Amino acid sequence: MVNFDNLCQTISVCKDCDLYYSRKNAVCGEGTASSGIMIVGEAPGQKEDLEGKPFIGRSGKLLDSILSREGLSRSEVYISNAVRCRPKLGVAPKVAEIKKCSKYLKYEIESIKPRIIVPMGNSALKAVGIVLGFSFPKVTEISGKIYKVKDYYVIPQFHPAAILRNPKKLEIFKDNFVSTISFLMGVTGKEGLSEREVLKA
Ligand code: URA
Repeated sequence: MVNFDNLCQTISVCKDCDLYYSRKNAVCGEGTASSGIMIVGEAPGQKEDLEGKPFIGRSGKLLDSILSREGLSRSEVYISNAVRCRPKLGVAPKVAEIKKCSKYLKYEIESIKPRIIVPMGNSALKAVGIVLGFSFPKVTEISGKIYKVKDYYVIPQFHPAAILRNPKKLEIFKDNFVSTISFLMGVTGKEGLSEREVLKA
């Protein structure tokens, strides 16, 4: 039996990297992955740091609207982050910080066993790559592609904050989620298997 209360308790007092100095709250993963999907973001923003919940700010609102368009609610996906404490405004987490924090993501992935992992943005790709032992190219080169790494399909996606900064990418962002969900239907046998090319890692 997976005990996420203990995991969250451990994360909330973690001092393994310098990000803990400035945090108000460490932010734990949330949701169920009952759909088979786990989404990984970069790091808590200001609102998430204040309230201790993932993706509740502007990026989260965009993500929620795209998921609900595809018939998925928040509670049907598991949402986590590459690091659990807020970095300084506008600064991406350092690789060393992502490495230190990756033990929590590893525990979540191995416990939840999602069919599909959607890392959003380069920090999330780095974190998922560390956990699965694979080095992904940059998200701009591989968004929407399907990788089979160990037992998981990994479908990289842009980070919603990048879409808010550059709304021209919104259609690609939406299309990537549409095809992720139709691929999921294929792998879970709810529809004919998707014809999409799968890259073996
Ligand atoms: N952006 C992220 O990457 N994660 C959050 O939890 C919120 C915003």
